[in-house]
Amino acid sequence: MPAAGGFDKGNGKGYPGKLTPFVTVTCIVAAMGGLIFGYDIGISGGVTSMPSFLKRFFPSVYRKQQANSSTNQYCQYNSETLTLFTSSLYLAALLSSLVASSVTRKFGRKKSMLFGGVLFFAGALINGFAQGVWMLIVGRLLLGFGIGFANQSVPLYLSEMAPYKYRGALNIGFQLSITIGILIANVLNYFFAKIKGGWGWRLSLGGAMVPALIITIGSLVLPDTPNSMIERGQRDEAREKLRKIRGVNDVDEEFNDLVGASEASKQVEHPWGNLLKRKYRPHLTMAILIPFFQQLTGINVIMFYAPVLFNTIGFGNDASLMSAVITGLVNACATLVSIYGVDKWGRRSLFLEGGTQMLICQAIVAACIGAKFGVDGNPGELPKWYAVVVVLFICLYVAAFAWSWGPLGWLVPSEIFPLEIRSAAQSVNVSVNMAFTFVVAQIFLNMLCHLKFGLFIFFAFFVLVMSIFIFFFLPETNGIPIEEMGQVWKNHWFWSRYVGEDDFVSNGGVELQKGNKAINNV
Ligand code: BGC
Repeated sequence: MPAAGGFDKGNGKGYPGKLTPFVTVTCIVAAMGGLIFGYDIGISGGVTSMPSFLKRFFPSVYRKQQANSSTNQYCQYNSETLTLFTSSLYLAALLSSLVASSVTRKFGRKKSMLFGGVLFFAGALINGFAQGVWMLIVGRLLLGFGIGFANQSVPLYLSEMAPYKYRGALNIGFQLSITIGILIANVLNYFFAKIKGGWGWRLSLGGAMVPALIITIGSLVLPDTPNSMIERGQRDEAREKLRKIRGVNDVDEEFNDLVGASEASKQVEHPWGNLLKRKYRPHLTMAILIPFFQQLTGINVIMFYAPVLFNTIGFGNDASLMSAVITGLVNACATLVSIYGVDKWGRRSLFLEGGTQMLICQAIVAACIGAKFGVDGNPGELPKWYAVVVVLFICLYVAAFAWSWGPLGWLVPSEIFPLEIRSAAQSVNVSVNMAFTFVVAQIFLNMLCHLKFGLFIFFAFFVLVMSIFIFFFLPETNGIPIEEMGQVWKNHWFWSRYVGEDDFVSNGGVELQKGNKAINNV
């Protein structure tokens, strides 16, 4: 029996191709699609802790906060409209990623990116000029539609474009952009909050137009992926493009495999229904569980509400926004570690190390907050060293997420789906991610109010479960061309029950359906 993550590299097939400047620049531009998502994640937490913003749109939260000296610290921000403001976006993103599946499949990855940029731009514009809560919510719905399109298409684009040996690093460019977006937003919030007259939040929200323009323009100048061009019948152009991307003339083997995958994909009339077939059980499981677990690490509690949380544990407004800048910086820098290591150490080791580190940090943070705030939420005077210790362990937790579940939550799904279900399965991935981002955002303030420091134990429990899951059920995908991924399931101790030898027949490496003559002739 192979080890839990075990596989052999099958026929060890590899395609010629270099890390050309063309592919590098292309992937950097495409990865910037992550900026809109990141900018929004970072901006909402800061804006919702700005007194002028609260006073105007959420006066009841504002009043509660002003009177906070006597109330329970755990509950001071608990407001349904405030959480609805943050989380409405994720419902919209969930819906649009489902629509994006057909756009990405039929019109190419670039079109989805373009829609993503344009919708996000419109949302940012409305938010920047918001006059009432309804405008804020309409704006956020548009931002959400934009994010759904972008997150559905950008990771697929990157994984298809990248030479397989560098796929991990190039794909993680997406997560790096998310973290850079979060960081920029945190820094801007810090400065905009200081603007006299209290209209800085307009700049924070309206500033989202800048990353929106970047992805919009990017999507207009980027080439489409060869996989997508072949899928849409442009074979000759696709071969030329592949030569340019790989920087070698001899691309026949990879090209033929892509054509094979595309033919297989055309046999599939209902990509959604297809997902339910037994042989796609491992893919469907990963498309659901990886994003679910990614959100149940509790990362967005820190990302959305870091200023609120730091405020709760006794920091002033300014110090709270500053701490959010610090966690944002750690998040971005630690992502570089995974860019460096993902194609060297593999996905599993990063997942397992990151999980262990997060678990330890969560336990320590829970103990610290529990020790001082107890169950009544009235800590009394908090010493400085205490705040430093809490921030330190929160930073170590963020770093662990940033080199494990953060990037891998987008990378692994985008590289394991065969072309015939790729777009639909990626939509499942994005929608589950958004659904649970919504759930966490929606219930966090309420959970903090009721579970108190136990909130951190709640997430720690899930981190334990997900690490066990990875250990036993996720095969290593490092160093395997994406159109050859079928072998990792066939060789896996558990998934081989679902994916038999005959399910995907390798034709020089490509995954073909049994008895599919059209494909064997390619
Ligand atoms: C997650 C986001 C999270 C971000 C933090 C992403 O991979 O999908 O929900 O806020 O990482 O960097």
